[in-house]
Amino acid sequence: QFAPVILAGGSGTRFWPRSRKARAKQVLALDGSRTMIQQTLDRLLPLSRAESVWVITNDLLDDLIAEQLPQVPRSRILSEPTARNTAPACALAAFLMEKTAPDTVIGIFPSDHVVKDTARFTEVVRTGIKLAASGDKVVVLGVPPTRPETGYGYIELDGEATTSGSITPRRVKRFTEKPDRRRAEEFVASGNYAWNGGIFLWSARTLAGAIREYCPAMVPHLEKTAAAYGTPAFTQVFAEEYPKCASISIDYAVLEPRSAKGELAAEIYCLPGDFGWNDLGCWDALHEYEADCGCEDPSVANIFDGVDSARVVIDSCGNYVYAPGQSVALVGVNNLVVVQTKDALLITTRERSQDVGKVVAELKAAG
Ligand code: GDD
Ligand code: MG
Repeated sequence: QFAPVILAGGSGTRFWPRSRKARAKQVLALDGSRTMIQQTLDRLLPLSRAESVWVITNDLLDDLIAEQLPQVPRSRILSEPTARNTAPACALAAFLMEKTAPDTVIGIFPSDHVVKDTARFTEVVRTGIKLAASGDKVVVLGVPPTRPETGYGYIELDGEATTSGSITPRRVKRFTEKPDRRRAEEFVASGNYAWNGGIFLWSARTLAGAIREYCPAMVPHLEKTAAAYGTPAFTQVFAEEYPKCASISIDYAVLEPRSAKGELAAEIYCLPGDFGWNDLGCWDALHEYEADCGCEDPSVANIFDGVDSARVVIDSCGNYVYAPGQSVALVGVNNLVVVQTKDALLITTRERSQDVGKVVAELKAAG
């Protein structure tokens, strides 16, 4: 049995002004016509029935998500009363399933990334499900790193090389969430590290056990919430108990400490996330992702999203423009990001697009 849990409660501020609280990245179609969460579900359908999928989000997004994923039963789209990061969300899923089917393999899937090779994705996840079903194991998907990104977790792999083309699990030596720049550079240079793709597979029993071991304080609140699921009291119990959980990500709460037990005891395995994974963390990443599809030199391509009127490009390269319904002209500019929505305009450079999250903070502070 396999139960995918899609996490969709993040706010995605770096895609301002397209992303807003009630229109976070996961419900946007950044790279085409299907939204990120629809693409997430599409990828899972070869592995699971839609009726077995859970979505954990918040009440700003739940109705829109229900509309975008009509195949997923409404009773399985849960809205957190307050965001508590990913550990309580994963734990709640574990306690919900532990009661009735502790051997169910829970797959934790973020809803904020894209995958190019979906056939390979299916193959890798299928292998991971089998592995996770066989005992107290945690399976993570490790993406080959291409830059010293500090916004990701890093997985140190054991020495044994994987033969190309096959799916050989490798043991995980150590997990490091969001290292500083210097360590990230060391990790990438060593060649023995993968990025954490944010996808985890483990049985309900294993995940619940890990939460009991590493986050005991949240356990009673989540057990109460899980016990109330399906009863008329659920919404009230959820609202009372969930906010009492610590706000912490599953990476810091469970993966880092469990991996510190040592390779053999921790039983964490890594499968190759070599399916064209991209976290689309900012406008620059979106430019890179779209330019990569078929352009000769992606770094100099101009990308126009949503621009169906005239475009003129004179001596300009490497720009990203989103301006639905507008005619757009670029004259002698390079590497800009220009995003026009109904009520807001963003102008920055691709290099600085990581800092767009600060705009949201500034606007909030300004009221
Ligand atoms: N339900 C719920 N509640 N979902 C949440 C919450 C929350 O409070 N916070 C975040 N999420 C969802 C996001 O929408 C996203 O789909 C997923 O959980 C991961 O959260 P992020 O906030 O995007 O995590 P991250 O990108 O900083 O780091 C994680 O992902 C990286 C890869 O993209 C970590 O797992 C890293 O180790 C990993 O490299
Ligand atoms: Mg993310």
